[in-house]
Amino acid sequence: MESVEVSEIGRFDIGLQELFCDYVPQVFRRADFRRWREWGEWNDDYRAFALMEAGRVVANTSVMRMRLVLEGREVMGYQLGAVGCLPSHRRRGLARVVMNAALDACGDAPVLLFANPTVRQFYPRFGFQPQIQTLFAATYDAVSEGPPTPTLSLDDVEVRAGLAALSSEGLPSTERFGARGYATVASWPVANGFARPLRQLGTDAWAFAGVEGETLYLDDVFAREPFDLRAWIPRLIDRPIRSIRFGFTPERYWPEAVTAGEDMEADLFVRNFHPSQEAHRFPVMAHT
Ligand SMILES: CC(C)(COP(=O)(O)OP(=O)(O)OC[C@H]1O[C@@H](n2cnc3c(N)ncnc32)[C@H](O)[C@@H]1OP(=O)(O)O)[C@@H](O)C(=O)NCCC(=O)NCCS
Repeated sequence: MESVEVSEIGRFDIGLQELFCDYVPQVFRRADFRRWREWGEWNDDYRAFALMEAGRVVANTSVMRMRLVLEGREVMGYQLGAVGCLPSHRRRGLARVVMNAALDACGDAPVLLFANPTVRQFYPRFGFQPQIQTLFAATYDAVSEGPPTPTLSLDDVEVRAGLAALSSEGLPSTERFGARGYATVASWPVANGFARPLRQLGTDAWAFAGVEGETLYLDDVFAREPFDLRAWIPRLIDRPIRSIRFGFTPERYWPEAVTAGEDMEADLFVRNFHPSQEAHRFPVMAHT
């Protein structure tokens, strides 16, 4: 393999960020970092380790610093993302170079990542182990009642600041295996148009939630204090529901929820730690 140098792209590396943004859609068709970046969400927590060739990024591994919550204990860790190599440059060891640079930056701290079926054999080469994620559901009959709770837009800088504050100062949605302070992770699918609406349940509790068919999907809850989520359901739904699906382990908000099989779409890999032995789901809005 030719000798190559890895560039670290941080918050202030505007020119290199542009090149990173050009690279991403060439590897991940539906992904784009531009709007997220325009929102000012690329902060010190996010660093891209990129290999450049002829003025463009040809391979990359990004590192998002995360305040992980492991069985109630907060631990600094990292989540890898945007791991890839341009199709024209694969099988030359370039992804290995950027993976090693990114993992050097993580040291001995816990690292996790969400992969896909094509790379299940790739991550074990770097010390990662596959980890099962469980789906959680509850049977619950409810009808729409009362004024709908407001929908908040992250296009609004104050809403982004509000989410950042709630996420970093409030309660994690799960203590079992979760995180806090990940507003800039949650905003990424919003900036890409993939996320469910953000709804305001009172002043100090926000939830990403939406109804599909007869099911309410509660993807995540950000709250300053414990509150009765159940009481808000009639104002969160616009038609009758019969069940709820959770994007996180609902031990706090819905202790009677039951496991509903394995999350076959997660492909979680972990390194330097073991998440809870109990069934768990790392919050979907905390996936990079
Ligand atoms: C997966 C990917 C990053 C590999 O890039 P690459 O530059 O071809 O990888 P490298 O040449 O550095 O390979 C490093 C090692 O992993 C192996 N490897 C590469 N791709 C692999 C795969 N998909 N599955 C298993 N092993 C793989 C290589 O054989 C090599 O092993 P070796 O050192 O023993 O020879 C690249 O195929 C890609 O961008 N895929 C699409 C994007 C994607 O799915 N990314 C993962 C997101 S979670």
